[in-house]
Amino acid sequence: MKTTAAAPGKIILFGEHAVVYSRPAIAVPVVDVQATATILDLSPGSGCTLIAHDLGSQLRLSTTGEDDALGLIVRLTLDELALAADPDWQIEIRSQIPIASGLGSGAAVSTALVRAIFHHVGLDPEPETISRLVYRSEELHHGTPSGIDNTVIAYAQPIWFVRGEPIRTFVPARSFTIAIADSGIGSPTKETVGDVRRAWQRDPARYEDWFDEIGEIVHAARSVMESGEVAALGPLMDRNQTLLRQIGVSADPLERLITAARNAGAAGAKLSGGGRGGNVIALVETETAPAIRRAFLDAGAKQVLVTTVIGDRGLETGD
Ligand code: PMV
Repeated sequence: MKTTAAAPGKIILFGEHAVVYSRPAIAVPVVDVQATATILDLSPGSGCTLIAHDLGSQLRLSTTGEDDALGLIVRLTLDELALAADPDWQIEIRSQIPIASGLGSGAAVSTALVRAIFHHVGLDPEPETISRLVYRSEELHHGTPSGIDNTVIAYAQPIWFVRGEPIRTFVPARSFTIAIADSGIGSPTKETVGDVRRAWQRDPARYEDWFDEIGEIVHAARSVMESGEVAALGPLMDRNQTLLRQIGVSADPLERLITAARNAGAAGAKLSGGGRGGNVIALVETETAPAIRRAFLDAGAKQVLVTTVIGDRGLETGD
């Protein structure tokens, strides 16, 4: 028997970093890029082999250590289902999601694996089960992740995320399009989150004020998405970016990308995710998207993805 399951990428639209301090954040799935896991039954006694095509790796599950994210999520899922610890399976993993660039590649690969294992034994996992299991594998990379990545990818819908509160998914009233530019600069989220924590410890009052302001922007962004006035998201992105710069997670190459997008007609732009590197996002229209893509590439972006967040009123945009 052969089973395949997939999971999308994700992007944080508003609220990164402040979300670690219990303010809300909004994240959306990016369905244009996917991770997939395929399970094939092998003959009895073969044991479980994990083949990660994009990493060029092939491992036996029984020899993977605690620090191997793929082995860990497979073991956690087998445990959850009370299955044999070393099933006779070949598991193949493929991903179109760039690694360590804020698109949630780790959480997407883990989600695809959890889904594939459940489906292979005839079960359909609840999103909260997937999210809980994937969170455990995320801890390996991020230390103390807020949980936003595993949540948005497991639910595969836009989410309003507040740490420790029940998940709320929502559908924007109108579709809107964003361009996602990869700066090509690797910047581990664990480090920026750690730097922000140390700065917050030195000056908690100032950082709490900034986090409050980000929280207000995220609330405003949700109202705007629910009312369909999506053009208003642009200035909110710009304000969020100013605060991200103040809390110390922007960097010159990101500022160059943001300025280039605004000059090419983007209604707003900001970094997304941990910062210092990774991605920048810009609010675009169908007409402005090609010029903004070009501007991003000319300003040093390694890759640009234009993606539409589908609203209640299909693909019409905010006019
Ligand atoms: O870099 P990403 O896309 O994994 O996002 C990190 C988001 C932070 O708020 C900075 C950290 C977190 O765990 O939420």
